[in-house]
Amino acid sequence: MKNLVICGGSGTRLWPLSRNLMPKQFAKLINNKSLFQLALERNSAFCDSFCIISNVEHFFLAHDQMDASELNKKIVKDTKYILEPVGRNTAPAIALACLTLNDDDMVLVSPSDHLIKNHEEYEKAVARAAVLAEQGNIVVFGVKPAYAETGYGYIEVDGEDVISFKEKPDAKTAGEYVESGRYYWNSGMFCFKAGKFLEELQRHAPEIYDACRVALENASNSQYVRIGLEDMLMIPEDSIDYSVIEKCDCLKVVVSDIGWSDVGSFDSLSAELENDKDNNLIISNKYVATIDVNDMIVVDTDDALLICKKGSSQKVKDVVHKIKTVK
Ligand code: GDD
Ligand code: MG
Repeated sequence: MKNLVICGGSGTRLWPLSRNLMPKQFAKLINNKSLFQLALERNSAFCDSFCIISNVEHFFLAHDQMDASELNKKIVKDTKYILEPVGRNTAPAIALACLTLNDDDMVLVSPSDHLIKNHEEYEKAVARAAVLAEQGNIVVFGVKPAYAETGYGYIEVDGEDVISFKEKPDAKTAGEYVESGRYYWNSGMFCFKAGKFLEELQRHAPEIYDACRVALENASNSQYVRIGLEDMLMIPEDSIDYSVIEKCDCLKVVVSDIGWSDVGSFDSLSAELENDKDNNLIISNKYVATIDVNDMIVVDTDDALLICKKGSSQKVKDVVHKIKTVK
């Protein structure tokens, strides 16, 4: 199985740990490892080759972290890189990678910025997905929704059949979905044969398919594929969820309890890390003392300091927006 690791996102809600030059997936968040490294290591249990699709600016970061991971050295050496000058969202990133593969290649698409704690269940889920994908399906992975999140995709499930897929519903609809008990969160991973995905992309988003083909034809076809800026800008921007998954009728779902989190905010990160006895999450290289302070998030980096009440960390992205507009 080939693992396509998509790592072009910027994760602004984890500022100041996540920055333009050090996005969330590469920050050493858990036991001095990045989420990117943890993704590689857990997928190496069943994937024999990797393709990293990232922004060209992060090539050395990805390469170094790949080198420092606990992966087999031959796999590290053979890893393919698709380097984007700018991101055009996940549909183009995945399409560019699939266009370099054989139609029959079995693919697992993994976001690089998620945490999965139950490896045994995860391996079982991927094994089942591979069986369904072998039969010509595109497989999504459902996890039980914990609340009415509007930033996720929702899968309406009947056994392994998908009744419908809705990306990022509004708050009211998300609430109704969770209430109904029939919907699961889309965890953002996908399993399919490369040719099947390309066929569906060509059917539902032919402009993306055509522009990706042209971009690849103009790029060097080597282990390190660098897409040109002009070609990249010609590719329409869209996610796989909106452009293909919402529209195709060959979906299957594997629902499982894999201990999934997309570590989308400091509140969700604090659920994964050790907090002090007053329920404070403090990330700093300095000695930090607190007195009668509880339920706080303190993130101290070389050039920026965040102090935030627990429960309010979704607002970090507003701070980032403000900094960008003021500077
Ligand atoms: N190479 C590349 N280029 N990677 C990208 C790009 C891009 O332009 N844009 C995003 N990515 C990577 C991100 O780094 C992340 O690992 C993954 O693709 C998903 O992108 P997000 O931007 O984080 O997507 P999302 O969170 O809005 O939604 C997706 O994930 C949710 C679960 O976390 C969807 O699949 C939802 O349906 C899903 O619920
Ligand atoms: Mg995300």
